[in-house]
Amino acid sequence: MNTQTRLSGPVYPPAQEVAARAHIDAQAYERMYRDSVADPDAFWGEEGRRLDWIKPYSTVRNTDFALGGVSIKWFEDGTLNVAQNCIDRHLETRGEQTAIIWEPDDPADPARHITYRELHREVSRLANVFETLGVRRGDRVVIYLPMIPEAAYAMLACARIGAIHSIVFAGFSPDALGARINGCDAKLVITADEAPRGGRKTALKTNTDQALLHCDDDVKCLVVRRTGGQTTWVEGRDFDYGELMAEADDHSEAAEMNAEDPLFILYTSGSTGQPKGVVHSSGGYLLYAAMTHQITFDYHEGDVYWCTADVGWVTGHSYIVYGPLANGATTVMFEGVPTWPDAGRFWEVCAKHKVNQFYTAPTAIRALMGHGAAPVEKHDLSALRLLGTVGEPINPEAWNWYNEVVGKGRCPIVDTWWQTETGGHLITPLPGATATKPGSATKPFFGVQPVVLDPQSGAVLEATEVEGVLAIADSWPGQMRTVWGDHERFEQTYFSQYPGYYFSGDGCRRDADGDYWITGRVDDVINVSGHRMGTAEVESALVAHAKVAEAAVVGYPHEVKGQGIYCYVTLMNGIEPSEELRKELRQWVRQEIGPIASPDLIQWAPGLPKTRSGKIMRRILRKIAENDHGSLGDTSTLADPSVVDELIDNRMNRG
Ligand code: WT7
Repeated sequence: MNTQTRLSGPVYPPAQEVAARAHIDAQAYERMYRDSVADPDAFWGEEGRRLDWIKPYSTVRNTDFALGGVSIKWFEDGTLNVAQNCIDRHLETRGEQTAIIWEPDDPADPARHITYRELHREVSRLANVFETLGVRRGDRVVIYLPMIPEAAYAMLACARIGAIHSIVFAGFSPDALGARINGCDAKLVITADEAPRGGRKTALKTNTDQALLHCDDDVKCLVVRRTGGQTTWVEGRDFDYGELMAEADDHSEAAEMNAEDPLFILYTSGSTGQPKGVVHSSGGYLLYAAMTHQITFDYHEGDVYWCTADVGWVTGHSYIVYGPLANGATTVMFEGVPTWPDAGRFWEVCAKHKVNQFYTAPTAIRALMGHGAAPVEKHDLSALRLLGTVGEPINPEAWNWYNEVVGKGRCPIVDTWWQTETGGHLITPLPGATATKPGSATKPFFGVQPVVLDPQSGAVLEATEVEGVLAIADSWPGQMRTVWGDHERFEQTYFSQYPGYYFSGDGCRRDADGDYWITGRVDDVINVSGHRMGTAEVESALVAHAKVAEAAVVGYPHEVKGQGIYCYVTLMNGIEPSEELRKELRQWVRQEIGPIASPDLIQWAPGLPKTRSGKIMRRILRKIAENDHGSLGDTSTLADPSVVDELIDNRMNRG
């Protein structure tokens, strides 16, 4: 790769051999991007043919961002079945090709190769099992599974019969699981006895038993035996996956679904209140996931593609299951973690399965960087052609290490910016078309019209080089359709602050080349190891503890996690702070939400900085947490400015 240097740092234009074989080169990008925004109906009308439709659409787009009438519909009179698109249509040409390579947690256990034909059989049987258990079209099924093929079977079996899945990440607590089961009124939960990860086991069935104590009595539970570990059994409620699958019929008719029928719900954190159920569609979502998977990763027939995410997050939905399988790809599904049994695991798996495209998160790269180049160099990575990152801004040090040590300077890096809400990549380099810069997500995908707004006035900043908040001016097929059961919240969250635009919640900078640099969230959402966390959720978990009077939670820079969770806690009168209590609170939050929400730092706060109207001034708390208290700005509006000095004196982050 040849490097040019500009004022803003190095630029890596696409290598000639990469551009030559890529689906999209620079000219194609320019032309197609122009077409996609000039005439979206024509552009997407054509792209929509990537899918097999039962009844073809006659309308492409019917979307409105106007507050009070937000409505997003794509291909609205078309019908299709998502599972049919991900499986059946491939059977004739690639029935014996591997669809899923499953790599277990323990490298001593064998990997599994599941062909499209086997996938078809498993999914058809499971669809029949779901029906036997009373699941009908439109019903909700919660999936709470380890990273095992059964998770993909369950997603696709739902799609086959038109049920709506809602996956709950296996790292979430019983309370969080229960809230999600109730939130979407699920009829069935599918779980496993235990989830092995990094040599340890999480008791998923036990967690599910606890969650179900707070749910309707008629919610059924289907249990996959992953480890064979002991579980308790409730007759009439719990069913054994293996037993029912053994009896199930191999044939299942794929339901004819409308393009706008929901495919899944996925809960995600916001700046206020409880997580919201993001609803994605069948037609537009699948098309967008498939197209971005093929183009961003430059996927070609026969490639082996690996996304290290968990199916509990949107990345796993779009880029382990739906996008790759719609494209007839071979997708790797990994049950383990990057650093167990050692820090070479990712590279060992890449070498073992001859992975061509590798997609991971900056937090994983930073964690592995800490172990140096040796664990990478032990393995043959010559099959790698492309590297991807997602989840948070990638710092240039991590980008450079990824590029040099993992990619040996010959694999383009795609830094893909998107969100649970967007269904797929919105801003990303295309490997054969875009010059990359460490830390920039670069250019919009086809049909995506980013705008940078002045955060205060909401005015569109028209100049090329600007900084502000990132919004999107018009719809794309993968856009979320609503918040489950609360369309009003959907409008309020995304369309009210800057009317007429979809507001992302991210800040961004556009440079002289028109490249976008995401600067992070501008709301009270923090990004911990690429996982999105509402500070309000952690606060409400903390104040639910009997000894806590008040809590304020902010993010602070963390070397590996990107952001860490910093909690200011005011204790009830008469309660003494102690190390034990710190541990207890940390444990408490893990129990309430899950290990991913575990506080990194807890500072005892006799008082919190509040305005005279009682509003906590988070700006100040953020500065103290960042160890940047020299620039606190105006504190004169505080009810009691002296609390600030106390907090600075006892700050927990002095790094
Ligand atoms: C938030 C969305 C989309 C899959 C994973 C996270 C941040 C995501 C990037 C990137 C800078 C990024 C944003 C965004 N983010 N990708 N390439 N560069 N920031 O999905 O949990 O919905 O979080 O993650 O802040 O808003 P999510």
